[in-house]
Amino acid sequence: MPPIFDGFRYKDHLLHSDGVNLAEVAEKYGTPTYVYISSNIEKSYQELEEALKPIPHIICYSVKANSNLSILRTLNQMGAGADIVSGGELFRALEAEIPADKIVFSGVGKTREEIDFAMKKKILCFNIESEQELVAIDCIAKSHRKVASICIRVNPDVNPKTHPYIATGLKHSKFGIPYRQALELVRSTLRLKNVNLIGLACHIGSQITQVAPFMDSVRRMLKLYDQVQKLKPEVNILDLGGGLGVIYNNEKPPSIKHWAESLIKEIGDRKLTLILEPGRSIVGNAGILLTKVLYVKRGESDNFIVADAGMNDLIRPSLYGAYHSILPVHYRKYKKIKASVVGPCCESGDILTKARRIQNFQPGDLLAVMSCGAYGASMSSHYNSRPKAAEVLIREQKHYLIRERETFEDLVGKEKTPPFLKKVATAS
Ligand code: LLP
Repeated sequence: MPPIFDGFRYKDHLLHSDGVNLAEVAEKYGTPTYVYISSNIEKSYQELEEALKPIPHIICYSVKANSNLSILRTLNQMGAGADIVSGGELFRALEAEIPADKIVFSGVGKTREEIDFAMKKKILCFNIESEQELVAIDCIAKSHRKVASICIRVNPDVNPKTHPYIATGLKHSKFGIPYRQALELVRSTLRLKNVNLIGLACHIGSQITQVAPFMDSVRRMLKLYDQVQKLKPEVNILDLGGGLGVIYNNEKPPSIKHWAESLIKEIGDRKLTLILEPGRSIVGNAGILLTKVLYVKRGESDNFIVADAGMNDLIRPSLYGAYHSILPVHYRKYKKIKASVVGPCCESGDILTKARRIQNFQPGDLLAVMSCGAYGASMSSHYNSRPKAAEVLIREQKHYLIRERETFEDLVGKEKTPPFLKKVATAS
């Protein structure tokens, strides 16, 4: 039997997650379908909660990793807040009844409407990413006759040693205020009447598999924090973002516990509230994408296994060359071949894996694409007019549909036909 991820195991040669037979799930809901194990999410969250106990803290789950309402509700039940980057994510977090005073709003492009919405809902804070945004928020708060709580998101310029597309805390990245300009911006906030600086924030990147980059950034942030404290002693929040990596293949990321404990150690006896914004480390290894093999093609130089899930369902392999382990749902002795597992989309980059030594899968075989809980469904699209996949949550050995598969009608439901196109012209 191949190595198996936490919560997944073969029983009678069939892949089960948390005791549920995945072949049955595929039979009932069809494919492609995302399947999440609640207990994996709960375990990761609990590990972080335990490790952070020694200091005041808020875990603001990063909604972008997986924004399904049932995932948000699961985390809400455990006490999580939310890190959001759009009005849509705020709407979702509130729909899932996450308390507004545990919501932080990051992102470089907050619109006036989104700021209005967040201000009305009284979120914990806006993480400011530019001087112009600071001025805009002060101005909008004034029009609401309110004072908006803000943190300044700093770009600490550390190398997270991850894929360049998901490194966010290097000086050439669009995120945050340059480290050397941060203190000056802090001084500016003190002159504004409708913003209240409550803390500093950073986020250096994602899928980080070493502790060292986090240490570099927390040290730099603490140095700044101590300077800010001298200017405004009431500032007491340090938001260190998310970014902890998970195992997709043979990475060896630090455990959640080790990550959190290392940060706390560095913080020492400072009286501050620590905010973390984990996404992937909470949900990444809790989800899989179930897909079925449609055809097998032998090209002149390459073998292709064509699955019914494509880049519109899971874009990570196409976008980042990301590795996802692929396991058969029915375990049997397969011959290994070198093949690409591809989807049905009309793009050569539509791959689940490229030229990997893999089982000689056959039409009808069910596959589990592993570690798809984060940035899977939340990054899916309708490309090629493909309806979005169903999503299923497994809890206490039962499965629940948490998002219906979309229909063709869903695809066109928002489109409008102008009057001059209502009647189809007939050729004379
Ligand atoms: N906080 C902020 C401000 C962020 O931008 C992010 C992720 C997080 C927290 C959560 O990071 P995590 O703990 O999940 O690493 N689509 C990419 C990942 C993009 C991450 C963007 N920001 C992927 O599929 O790998």
